[in-house]
Amino acid sequence: MTSAPSPIVSAYAQLAAAVRHLGYDEGLHQHLRTPRRELHVAVPLRTDAGDLKLFHGYRVQHNVSRGPGKGGLRFSRDVDIDEVRALAMWMTWKCAVVDIPYGGAKGGVTIDPAEHSAAELERVTRRYTTEIMPLIGPETDIMAPDMGTDEQTMAWVMDTYSTSRGHTIPAVVTGKPIAIGGSLGRAVATSAGVVHVTQSALEAQGEKVAGKTVAVQGFGKVGSHAAAIYAARGARVVAVSDVHGGVRDDAGLDIDRLFAHVAAAGTVVGFADADPITNAQMLAMDVDVLVPAAMENVLTAETAPTVRARLVVEGANGPTTPEADAVMEANGITVIPDILANAGGVVVSYFEWVQANQVYWWTAQEIDERLEQRMVMAYDAVAELARRDGLSLREAANVIAVKRVAEAHSIRGLYP
Ligand SMILES: NC(=O)c1ccc[n+]([C@@H]2O[C@H](COP(=O)([O-])OP(=O)(O)OC[C@H]3O[C@@H](n4cnc5c(N)ncnc54)[C@H](O)[C@@H]3O)[C@@H](O)[C@H]2O)c1
Repeated sequence: MTSAPSPIVSAYAQLAAAVRHLGYDEGLHQHLRTPRRELHVAVPLRTDAGDLKLFHGYRVQHNVSRGPGKGGLRFSRDVDIDEVRALAMWMTWKCAVVDIPYGGAKGGVTIDPAEHSAAELERVTRRYTTEIMPLIGPETDIMAPDMGTDEQTMAWVMDTYSTSRGHTIPAVVTGKPIAIGGSLGRAVATSAGVVHVTQSALEAQGEKVAGKTVAVQGFGKVGSHAAAIYAARGARVVAVSDVHGGVRDDAGLDIDRLFAHVAAAGTVVGFADADPITNAQMLAMDVDVLVPAAMENVLTAETAPTVRARLVVEGANGPTTPEADAVMEANGITVIPDILANAGGVVVSYFEWVQANQVYWWTAQEIDERLEQRMVMAYDAVAELARRDGLSLREAANVIAVKRVAEAHSIRGLYP
């Protein structure tokens, strides 16, 4: 997995295919491809032991034509500028495909959070936030959690930003704790959206989630709740994995007990009453639904030929390379693309931002209903275009998204 190409290669190839389908010229292609702004910052840390360490941080605003930049903050040792560019571009298309009034942005710090104490991560977060302060704000660029960050990280970002302005500004981040203005339903929204689009895809074939077998790669914020929601909807979750390995039980894993095991052990590995399994074995399992919910470049030219699932639902961003897409399409496997499948998180982030701006909070039921409505609407539009134009779901999602962004450019005109 580590030798795979940068995700920017996949992002550029996907955009180029959409541009070809739409018949746009090269000037517009470059305009759609190039980030509006990028900031590279140094993040010095005084460690708990008193040493000085230096980390690199980035914030990229890929496009802001439909609204403020929106996108997560990632802490990972693999973060580099091209990864952040790719993730920012995918945020642009994701917000457009579910039709919420945001552009796309992303941030990252090249740091392994597992190697640092909470106090060190707080100092890194506050210094990074201070360094990118010129770019962020509730009307300009709104952060959310991503890989390696969580609602506590968002609380630190919000506090740092608010302190610098002299008053509380909850709308500068989403995915924050409910006690300081977070939204009900946000913590599980990405996962709920993954299950909603799975249901839509199965319904199109006269089937449903209940009774299906599911394997989930990644047992973090997205994968763990997706596993729980699939199980609650009557599916059999037969395998899950994380960075340390995986576990398998063909009778269906007990997800509540698995959560308890992970809380104690820090990994799914070692879960009693299940067999060990590697990540590679899990990708190749004979299941109805495979959910890559960990990281990029998991389904590649090497691993895609091993996939036996009928439906791949991309909980992660960029798990599939263009070569793998071609292999799976040839093998009759339907892929629900990341920008659609995992958009539930940004949809409820949008709801959180709306609530913060209104200073009025919605009920959990209102959030759940509006999320499902928007995910189903977006899925239906993508599936309809795919049918009409003979496209894959990824191609159709990209075409809808790129067209919406290009329309915004065209209507606004080019300054000066
Ligand atoms: N958090 C969100 O709301 C959200 C929204 C949309 C998309 N995503 C995407 O979903 C993916 C996961 O994000 P998250 O927020 O759940 O992150 P997380 O840090 O909470 O969890 C990541 C999980 O992936 C596992 N993992 C890491 N490297 C792995 C490897 N090499 N092999 C197998 N498993 C590995 C980790 O052990 C962990 O279980 C990312 O691609 C992220 O961009 C997240």
